[in-house]
Amino acid sequence: MTVTELENIRFYDYHPKPADIHADIIHGLNRTQKQLPPKYFYDHRGSQLFDAICTLPEYYQTRTESAILQQNAIAISECIGKDVLLIEPGSGSSHKVRLLLDELRPEVYLPMDISRQHLLQAAQSVSDDYPWLEVCAGCVDFTEQMPIPNYLAECDNKVVFFPGSSIGNFEPRDAVGFLCDVAALVRPGGGLLIGVDLKKEHHILHAAYNDAQGITADFNVNLLARINRELSADFIPENFSHHAFYNSELGRIEMHLLSNTEQQVSIDTDTFIFQQGESIHTENSYKYTVEEFAELAACAGFRLQQYWIDPNGLFSVQYYSLL
Ligand code: AVJ
Repeated sequence: MTVTELENIRFYDYHPKPADIHADIIHGLNRTQKQLPPKYFYDHRGSQLFDAICTLPEYYQTRTESAILQQNAIAISECIGKDVLLIEPGSGSSHKVRLLLDELRPEVYLPMDISRQHLLQAAQSVSDDYPWLEVCAGCVDFTEQMPIPNYLAECDNKVVFFPGSSIGNFEPRDAVGFLCDVAALVRPGGGLLIGVDLKKEHHILHAAYNDAQGITADFNVNLLARINRELSADFIPENFSHHAFYNSELGRIEMHLLSNTEQQVSIDTDTFIFQQGESIHTENSYKYTVEEFAELAACAGFRLQQYWIDPNGLFSVQYYSLL
């Protein structure tokens, strides 16, 4: 671990080991149901496309969650309490936390992200805009570990902020595993403020992942262009089609890339055969009722304290405390 004292923030670098994209992709494509990990969507182009998705009329999630946070910042802050250490795993640009900071006035904000440059920029910028706030950034892969500096470990009121329904990308039992890691971090008395996308009419979900402009399709297919670039593979992206649908038995949106023809693709020394219509499963996005998610969180020892939902019942922000 390396500590750097920058002008206005502390920076703890835990040197997360870079993802092994080659191994992960070969492993996924060798499965009977071919699959690719959704974390690889987010190269430079993929991150731009995701930002574009977040402003689409059909993609209600981002604006709805932001409105919930903004409109209920006072109630949320009362629920969370004073003098907290606010920890945000996968903080990215740290946009959403800003909706809470003026009301919540945490003692310390600790953004965690695997992307060093992005994290540093975002942390500096929060610190510039909230001069009264102590900002301490941690470069980690939060899916591997969530270390925090010793001098902060003693803080009595640790709260994890996990917005964006990122929890929906986990299989339910992996979600419980992640929530157990959160529990180990915040300790009894600590809390969790989490954004969870809700079950709803299927046509609304379907539209959110099948937008009219085809941005979500571009986002999905871009994964193949990235693999070509980074692994000297020869996918022909035009030979694959975006397919997203709501699987109501499993309560999740599934995204796939369908092979338009019978074709063969090489990645370095490996070759993969695709039948016409065969799919690569690229993402799951689980949807929960508040009750379902509370039950999941209870498996990790969390008890639901309060939750906030938009007037259309699309999205939820939920606050849990650890027993
Ligand atoms: C970032 C995982 C919350 O599941 O809605 C958006 C990703 N995929 N459109 C989601 C995504 C297609 C998003 N999450």
